[in-house]
Amino acid sequence: MYKVEINNVSLLFKDSEKEFLALDKVSLKIEEGEFVCIIGPSGCGKSTLISLVAGLNFPTEGEIYIDGKTVTGAGTNRGMVFQHYSLFLWLTAKKNVSFGIKQANLFKDKKQIDERAAEFLEKVGLEEYADKYPYQLSGGMQQRIAIARTLAMDTEILLMDEPFGAVDPKNRLALQDLTVNLCKKCEDRKAVVFVTHDIDEAIFLADRIVFMEPKKIKEQIKVGFTKNIARDQVLRTPEYMEVRNRLMNLFYEDIGNRIGGEEVVI
Ligand SMILES: Nc1ncnc2c1ncn2[C@@H]1O[C@H](COP(=O)(O)OP(=O)(O)OP(=O)(O)O)[C@@H](O)[C@H]1O
Ligand SMILES: [Mg+2]
Repeated sequence: MYKVEINNVSLLFKDSEKEFLALDKVSLKIEEGEFVCIIGPSGCGKSTLISLVAGLNFPTEGEIYIDGKTVTGAGTNRGMVFQHYSLFLWLTAKKNVSFGIKQANLFKDKKQIDERAAEFLEKVGLEEYADKYPYQLSGGMQQRIAIARTLAMDTEILLMDEPFGAVDPKNRLALQDLTVNLCKKCEDRKAVVFVTHDIDEAIFLADRIVFMEPKKIKEQIKVGFTKNIARDQVLRTPEYMEVRNRLMNLFYEDIGNRIGGEEVVI
C-alpha cells in the first residue's frame, strides 16, 4: 500500500462562462517516508495537484488515496504550507504556531503547546518575533512562521507548495536543512510532496523529482544519491550534473514548445 496514491486524476475548472482542464489523467504513487519534489513551468498544475492531495479540492475524474483510503477532505494526517502566506492575521506569530499544534492534537497541556511553539519559532530563527502580528512582519518572515506552524504539527504527510519562494538565500538554506532533519533524518520519516521552482533545491531535498508539463507528469527522476552526502559534496557528484542537465533540458523543451519549436540560444 502506498502512503499517497494519485490514480488517473483529472480536474476541470468550470464557471458559468468557460471550462479549463488543469490536470489530465495524472497518476503518482508515493511511498511511506518518500520525499517527492514537483518541478515544472508556471501554470502547469503543481498547486492544483497538491491541493487535491490536501483535500482542499476534489478531482473531476480519478481518485486520491491516503493509506489506501479515499481522500474526502482535509485531515490531521496532512500538514500544508501554502504558496502564499496563510497566517491568521488576528493572531500573533506564536499563537499562529500554537494553533497548528492544537489542531494536530499533539498536546492538551497549554504549557507543552507553548513550549513547542517557542521551539519551532526558534528553529526558523524568529523567536524574537513571537508576539508580533503578521502585518508587523516581512513576507519572508510570515512564510517562515507558516513553515514553523506546519512543521510543528508533526504530521505523517507534509505538503509544501513553494514554501521557501519568498525567503532570502541564507534562510532558505537553513530551512532546507531543517526540513531534511525533520522529514528525512527522523526515525519515522515523513512522506513529503514539495513543490519548487529551484532545481538545486529539488536535487538536494528529493528522493524523486517529478517534472510536470501543463496538465501532466512528463518525467520522474530518482535522486537517491544525495542520501547521507553533505550539500557541498552533492554538487561535485557526476549524478548531480546529470540530473541538473536533464531538468534544464526539460525546461528548455517546454520553452521550445511554447515559442513554436525554435531552438533557444542564450
Ligand atoms: N480556481 C481556478 N479556476 C480556473 N482555473 C484555475 C483555477 N486555479 C488554477 N487555475 C488554472 O489552472 C492552471 C494550473 O494552476 P496552478 O496554480 O496549479 O499552477 P502552478 O503549476 O502551481 O503554477 P505556479 O508555478 O505559477 O505556482 C493555471 O492555468 C491556472 O490558471
Ligand atoms: Mg503554484
